Amino acid sequence: MTAFLPPVDFPTARLRRNRRDDFSRRLVRETRLSADDLIYPVFVCEGRDVRDPVSSMPDVVRQSPDVLLRTAEQCLELGIPVLALFPHIDPSLKTPDGLEAANPDGLIPRTVALLKSNFPELGVLTDVALDPYTSHGQDGLIDADGQLLNEPTVAMLVRQALTHAQAGVDIVAPSDMMDGRIGAVRQALDAQDRIHTRIMAYSAKYASAFYGPFRDAVGSAANLGASNKFTYQMDPANRLEALREVAADIREGADMVMVKPGLPYLDVLREVKNAFGMPTYAYQVSGEYAMIKAASANGWLDHDKVMMESLLAFKRAGGDGILTYFAVAAAKILRAQG
Ligand code: PBG
Repeated sequence: MTAFLPPVDFPTARLRRNRRDDFSRRLVRETRLSADDLIYPVFVCEGRDVRDPVSSMPDVVRQSPDVLLRTAEQCLELGIPVLALFPHIDPSLKTPDGLEAANPDGLIPRTVALLKSNFPELGVLTDVALDPYTSHGQDGLIDADGQLLNEPTVAMLVRQALTHAQAGVDIVAPSDMMDGRIGAVRQALDAQDRIHTRIMAYSAKYASAFYGPFRDAVGSAANLGASNKFTYQMDPANRLEALREVAADIREGADMVMVKPGLPYLDVLREVKNAFGMPTYAYQVSGEYAMIKAASANGWLDHDKVMMESLLAFKRAGGDGILTYFAVAAAKILRAQG
């Protein structure tokens, strides 16, 4: 980017001139948000006709696969390209090794197959991590001291990713932050001729307190208890380390990279986009969503305006798209704006 050395100064130059009218504001606008930029994360649960509200995420429900079909139809209508699936797993299926994650007849593979058979043109993304499936709520396998075991976890993640791929998923998104998992997943997919299954890597994923409501939604909060994810998710203090994480994932075969959380990490998003020029996504996480919902429920913020401004900010910061629980609400506003 070139620095701006204005050829003329005030009063010849007046920056307010272009802002004077709507037509010229539109003409000089540098970034735009469109429905194409949105990925809609949804929580799936077993059952029929289930819409189970998530109390810390107003307007978000855990939905059974049949209900999700209607959601998928709505996404297609609104031009949202991708649905991201997160499971709420029955507690009786949770084990220390999270084996249910690799069950080909599990909730997620069944839901992927159902979605792809009904709406082949809608993109489906699945999360690859064990936390919804482990009895301790960690993203992988742990030793007696509670330390995450890297390679055994990667082996299970590979099984999980293959299960999703066999069900027909378009994008697998490892969110676990184990070292080497992108390469392992890519190799395993390629070995099964799944060369078109894309990988969106949660590359710079921080150990954030903003994930709280999500852990309620997938039902891992109680399992996790007072323990944390500091030995695998990144320290919020670190910026250069994020670039190393992204570089590693690209070298291992990531097709798309992600920064997470969103708004508090826009500096990292911008830097990742500038450094690598990859398709780069931001996750506006559950806690960010809950903050906007809570403040607007109190009448302290204008819900729709803050929602649209926050989403636009991701584009301005270099994001190619946003995983956001606001996807449907935002797409409706974009459509009404024409
Ligand atoms: C699971 C996962 C998490 C989120 C996405 N995938 C939670 C976590 O890492 O504890 C958080 C999403 C959100 O807060 O909206 N590995």
